[in-house]
Amino acid sequence: MTLSFPKDFVWGAATASYQIEGAWDEDGKSESIWDRFAHTPGKILNGDTGDVACDHYHRWRDDVQLMRDLGLNAYRFSIAWPRILPAGRGAVNQRGLDFYNRLVDELLEQNITPYVTLYHWDLPQVLEDAGGWAVRDTAQAFAEYADVVSRALGDRVKNWFTHNEPFCAAFLGYQMGVHAPGVTDWHKAIVASHHLLLSHGWAMPIIRQNSADAQAGIVLNVGFNMPATNRREDLDAVRFGDGFVHRWFLDPLFGRHYPADMVDAYCANGFLPKGMSFVQADDLAAISAPMDFLGVNYYRRSIMSQPTASDGTPSHEEIRLPDSEYTEMGWEVYPDGLYQLLCRLHFEYRPAKIFITENGASYADAPDAQGVIDDTRRIDYLRGHLTAAHRAIQAGVPLAGYFYWSLMDNFEWAYGYSERFGIVWIDYATQQRILKASARWYADVIRRNGL
Ligand code: FCB
Repeated sequence: MTLSFPKDFVWGAATASYQIEGAWDEDGKSESIWDRFAHTPGKILNGDTGDVACDHYHRWRDDVQLMRDLGLNAYRFSIAWPRILPAGRGAVNQRGLDFYNRLVDELLEQNITPYVTLYHWDLPQVLEDAGGWAVRDTAQAFAEYADVVSRALGDRVKNWFTHNEPFCAAFLGYQMGVHAPGVTDWHKAIVASHHLLLSHGWAMPIIRQNSADAQAGIVLNVGFNMPATNRREDLDAVRFGDGFVHRWFLDPLFGRHYPADMVDAYCANGFLPKGMSFVQADDLAAISAPMDFLGVNYYRRSIMSQPTASDGTPSHEEIRLPDSEYTEMGWEVYPDGLYQLLCRLHFEYRPAKIFITENGASYADAPDAQGVIDDTRRIDYLRGHLTAAHRAIQAGVPLAGYFYWSLMDNFEWAYGYSERFGIVWIDYATQQRILKASARWYADVIRRNGL
């Protein structure tokens, strides 16, 4: 059976600045929270850092050529804030802007549409030193940064995402401490989540003003959760997990304020000693500024169970099914979850358009003696998820495009270089790029606009 996608369907791949660029202290760039975090012993598996990463900062032209060879018609990448504003705000570093100017020009030259993410987690360390996302001033600094970048690139870049996965920036960064800046404080994390959303809301009109006819939105991580059993505790775990990761962001973005059950839960646990006093009068109106599209990052299903011996702190355990397939991240391969969540987002929130801004699988299949990388499991993953995406379109979901995560193997945050999500192999010793079988398979899908 052949599946055809709509005529203007966008086919892309995604990356993020810290994960691929390297050149961490070149051309006037200042330290980011990820530079600091990765340089702190014990934070990243094997002591890996993004100092060099895929050396994309120097190899960008070859990388665009690769995208062209694959026939990508779009590329989602992020801008490193500390390259543009080394002091966090104020003086602009022209050399930093020029890197992205050149990249954007080359992409357009090759007929690849740039989709820019302003913030994929690399906050200038100077702003973290002043309190980071836990202080309101950082939201103001982000609006200024959005102004500088959209002024400089807005004549050519017409598709903008403010933030990537504010859930992770707030809660992995400030509550679990497994991401930069490595803080473990529930209160700070909740306040940070608000400032991230607020900065999104403030940036939206600025982007529209600086970039004529631009389309703008945000990228959220949305998974698909199921209870392990029909015990009340397991159902509660799913409801809490959904509120924590999804509704806390979706509800205010779509004009519904923060979910009351979550505010109650946070208060009951003592995380909000002064309630929601950090939310000021006009904040929710700013956050719910209409978006042209919602970006969705989907990887997996989670099967949740509330641990019986709970100390009152919200938590859950994830159950592994013996017959399911898991990627090397330990993430279940569950394409139907993509269909389910796209339908859910469409029916519950009605975004004007949706992009799958990330979806992908970590498998370490390496070159064989002939240099061939036969990553059949990644092809299966892709086929399954594209089929689910197609079904969602048939069901009426306004899905406008798909970005595979990732164009190339890269620095996978706390896991360093141990996880490989790319359709392009990176030999980190030589920086050689090798197309995996999945890259050729995906190129074929793009060429036919279907599978
Ligand atoms: C997402 C991140 C992205 C990448 C994938 C695997 O949460 O946005 O940078 O690390 O996970």
